[in-house]
Amino acid sequence: MSTPPLPPLPPGSYRPATDRWGSFSKLAARLPEGSLAVVDRTVAQLHPGLVPALEARRPRAIVQITGGERAKNFASLEKVLAGGLSLPRSGTLVVVGGGTLGDVATVAAHVLKRGVRLVQVPTTLLAAVDSSLGGKGAVDLVARGRVVKNPVGVFHYAEEAWICPEFFTSLSDAQRREGAIEAWKMVACLDARLFRKYTRQPPTLERLVKDARRLKESVCAQDPYEQSGLRRVLNFGHSFGHVLESLSRFKLSHGDAVGLGMLCALDAGRRLGVTPEPVALQVEQALEQGPGVLGRERIAALAQRASLKDVVTLLAADKKAGKSGELRMVLLTAIGAFDIRDVSEAEWRQLWPAWKKGIRP
Ligand SMILES: NC(=O)c1ccc[n+]([C@@H]2O[C@H](COP(=O)([O-])OP(=O)(O)OC[C@H]3O[C@@H](n4cnc5c(N)ncnc54)[C@H](O)[C@@H]3O)[C@@H](O)[C@H]2O)c1
Ligand SMILES: [Zn+2]
Repeated sequence: MSTPPLPPLPPGSYRPATDRWGSFSKLAARLPEGSLAVVDRTVAQLHPGLVPALEARRPRAIVQITGGERAKNFASLEKVLAGGLSLPRSGTLVVVGGGTLGDVATVAAHVLKRGVRLVQVPTTLLAAVDSSLGGKGAVDLVARGRVVKNPVGVFHYAEEAWICPEFFTSLSDAQRREGAIEAWKMVACLDARLFRKYTRQPPTLERLVKDARRLKESVCAQDPYEQSGLRRVLNFGHSFGHVLESLSRFKLSHGDAVGLGMLCALDAGRRLGVTPEPVALQVEQALEQGPGVLGRERIAALAQRASLKDVVTLLAADKKAGKSGELRMVLLTAIGAFDIRDVSEAEWRQLWPAWKKGIRP
């Protein structure tokens, strides 16, 4: 007896991302009529051709939301869902924006009619190299007056990503740096050959996006639903990065905080004898010269503001911390290779005085 064919994949389940590069107006012509569009209002204002190109496809609705972390809430989610009420399950949701709207739209695509097709059009470099790939979406939640980031989330893989370089022309230098830092993070952990190439000559923006997407895709393909732990590599620089981000009361951007967090991770790796000194030095110099990681004086300025107790509390709130205060950190063992190690409170505390002075421990 022959086995019956497997049913088709449920919407949003893992599939390798199909990336299409080109102008938005050309790619938008691929959009099925009657789709639901979610658009960052700021991007629509900066790129006046965006909404008309969508309107030409007679969408069911174009939901405009101003992007930013504050948009990552249930009110935005509800607005998107309301716009998609009449969308059939076979319908398509296309989201044009940065990581915040991409995350909200991913949740919406997952729950709307129990799952609809998703097309991501990342408009920030960070979204292009990182958040628009890998299936994760989330909204923030307010609990006891405090905003908790990303506790309500889903995995819902996009079927296509449209990369339209025209959108990146309106990004500020700081926005480009943020995206570049996250991309260099992946290269440092995963691809030694590429890292050396980048060090000799920083890549073009297009090259950076292509390489980062390929590297992230290779990780997600092996651990699509974050079960094996492999995806933790994407957290390189994030343990202390999140601490610095919080200490700055989010004035320091996420990408810049991760850049400084990578310097902290290199220091921790050296302290534990996991990261060889020449590797740490080479990566630190490359991060300064390539994407332009901010200097250690920024770590000092933030560290001086905080007590060790604050840091312990912040690390404990971070989901990467263990029960007895040890940190599960991604450490480099070589350029392009990493290990996940527990770093005890006693170990990272020894680094604190140097961080506070803005010097390399
Ligand atoms: N899902 C994931 O795997 C994943 C991964 C990394 C980060 N994230 C999430 O992504 C979010 C950060 O993403 P982001 O940095 O793109 O944030 P964002 O969406 O807030 O965009 C940053 C700012 O840039 C503006 N903007 C967007 N495109 C622009 C353009 N082309 N020109 C000028 N301005 C533009 C936005 O309106 C916003 O003000 C965070 O919420 C983070 O949690 C998710
Ligand atoms: Zn990050």
